[in-house]
Amino acid sequence: MTELLPAREIGLGIERLDGVLKVKGTAPYAVEHPAEDPLFLFPVLSTIARGRITGIDTAAAEAVPGVAQVLTHLNAPRLADTEDRELAVLQGPDVGFRGQFVAAVLAETAEAAREAAAAVVVRYDDEPHRAALDPEDPELYKPEELNTGIEPDTSDGDVAGAFISADIVVEAVYRTPAEHNNPMEPHATTAQWDGQVLTLIDSTQGTHVVKGTLAPVFGLQESQVRVIAPHVGGGFGSKGMPHANVVLAGLAALRAGGRPVRFALTRQQMFSLAGYRTPTIQKIRLAADRDGTLQALSLDVVEQTAVIKEFAEQTPAPIRMMYAAPARATTTRLAALDIPVNSWMRAPGECPGMYGPEVAMDELAEACGLDPIELRLRNDTQTDPETGKPFASRHLAECLRRGAEHFGWERRSRRPRQRLVDGWWTGMGVASATYPFMAQPANKARIRYDAGTGPGTDAAGARAAAGAGGLDSAGVYTVQIGAADIGTGAWTALTQIAADALDVPLDRIRLQIGDSALPLATVAGGSSGTASWGATIIAAGEQFRADHGEAPSPGAQSEASPPENPAAGEFTLQSFGAHFAEVHVNADTGEVRVPRLLGVFSAGRIINPSTARSQFIGGLTMGLGMALHEESVMDARFGIFVNHDLAEYHVPAHADILDVDALWIEDEDPHAGKLGARGIGEIGIVGSAAAIANAAYNATGIRVRDLPLTPDRFLA
Ligand code: MOS
Repeated sequence: MTELLPAREIGLGIERLDGVLKVKGTAPYAVEHPAEDPLFLFPVLSTIARGRITGIDTAAAEAVPGVAQVLTHLNAPRLADTEDRELAVLQGPDVGFRGQFVAAVLAETAEAAREAAAAVVVRYDDEPHRAALDPEDPELYKPEELNTGIEPDTSDGDVAGAFISADIVVEAVYRTPAEHNNPMEPHATTAQWDGQVLTLIDSTQGTHVVKGTLAPVFGLQESQVRVIAPHVGGGFGSKGMPHANVVLAGLAALRAGGRPVRFALTRQQMFSLAGYRTPTIQKIRLAADRDGTLQALSLDVVEQTAVIKEFAEQTPAPIRMMYAAPARATTTRLAALDIPVNSWMRAPGECPGMYGPEVAMDELAEACGLDPIELRLRNDTQTDPETGKPFASRHLAECLRRGAEHFGWERRSRRPRQRLVDGWWTGMGVASATYPFMAQPANKARIRYDAGTGPGTDAAGARAAAGAGGLDSAGVYTVQIGAADIGTGAWTALTQIAADALDVPLDRIRLQIGDSALPLATVAGGSSGTASWGATIIAAGEQFRADHGEAPSPGAQSEASPPENPAAGEFTLQSFGAHFAEVHVNADTGEVRVPRLLGVFSAGRIINPSTARSQFIGGLTMGLGMALHEESVMDARFGIFVNHDLAEYHVPAHADILDVDALWIEDEDPHAGKLGARGIGEIGIVGSAAAIANAAYNATGIRVRDLPLTPDRFLA
């Protein structure tokens, strides 16, 4: 057990410190930072899914007024490391997917660059390609390991025997489609090369990740790459690792004679260049006693990866540890296709990997004649079935019970298709949620004390802290860590943590983040950011007090990295939750509405209830999109996602969202370090689509196993 840092600012719903800047439109995003005499880049994308470029005619493009140059694989600077084929931009004639960069125009205006890009003529030698995900594909393969380093296949206990002897077996196939991250700010970079240092003002979830990944690609020392990202308009994983667009911006900057280069992907280009969630095909079997006690479970998942770069999503991770079942088996097979590179999207693995299992649990509850909450309670466990370790803090049962009470679960009809209200079939559904605590230790924070000189501003031009108008002579603590606030509220939460770590009021903290010139910070991903950076700031605060005491001299400075968590090896550190949905399905049109959606979470200590609530309801809303709308449709004949814009790829809009709410239980995890927080960015989306699908079944009696729940599926 670790003693928690006492909370004074922690736990308060402090308004976002960067909120006013954002509302006023003055928070600079990646291509809005001042830049002198910039060039604008517009790329040319491949129009074949696989093959080779045999010729490029750039004459017409070069003749467009204002065009500075046209980059192709024939004239682009050579990269030092081309092993990552996603990042090996303009390094050769090979085409690995449709929508890949094959050329780029640099021009004096964005319009000229775009016009000229359209005038570039590329000739190809087209080869046969494969772009369809097929569970019977004979070329499916077993990856060496899955994302997060886990085994693709596992088997524990007598699975085959349990299925033979079980009272009740549920078996079905569930499908989740490809889905695209659609942050409001597109992937965008302002890049500049001064002959010594490549500066990338980039829309990223991790400045140090971009620096560390791209320095060797460009053949530069890490000290020669600086990445700046004070404000980021969302990411959801798609900005967790640099994609090819950042490399292209850098290549162009190397050729721009010192001028800055501005490059923002268009929304359409994001559908082939910024990652997306793999589709999954999940064959699930559950074996249980008549009373619902699980005896065995299995999941065989098929998903896809790009030929040019393997991404093996950890879809089976959650079912392995979610419920007590003495026998468990999972397999993972990949289809390597000539398609855009898939990557992280909010709760990769856990999110699609909980959809099938949590709908299967609903089917098992019905087969056993049990309430679906009761079935989950009967299979709850305080021991991680996968590792045999105890859970540090597992409050799934409390989340389910609290949610049931709050949501009015007792009004749910036990049998499906019972309530037709004004032409709408109505029902309720539930699903569990889980997400691991992926604490990242590789962080460092620096704290400096200066005499009171007024609030000043940080690198981003944001106000230092709420109420920072009147810093007194007591001085200010500058807290530096290269963290990224991608819209989560990390800036605010970390300032609160720093205040408590130093035991000073909030307005004496000046937090600086979003720059790789600041001390090393891990990615804003895996819901690990605020918890990991916060632990680092606490360590730095302790170091500062140890070095300089309570009355430091101006200029006093310390830095530290977080201590190892002694509990990490002994316990499974994991968050839990429960989702509740009310669904109305129009009896005539099949239209699906979700008037109420509730998530109840146990995620450790909540640093800021205001920004935390935003994270949770954001996750729930994204889960609603997954349930009802989102599907990236691959036309395998061409290897292209055909609905590649926000008109045809619908993300939830205000009209789709009615009453979405989030609650959490007091859960200060004593094994999650002094901060006691486990992360909240992703658990909000895990399980919400299953709750909605289960509610749609309760409403209509029609079991839809394939997402999204489009109206046609309810018009049998
Ligand atoms: Mo998030 S998908 O872990 O960046």
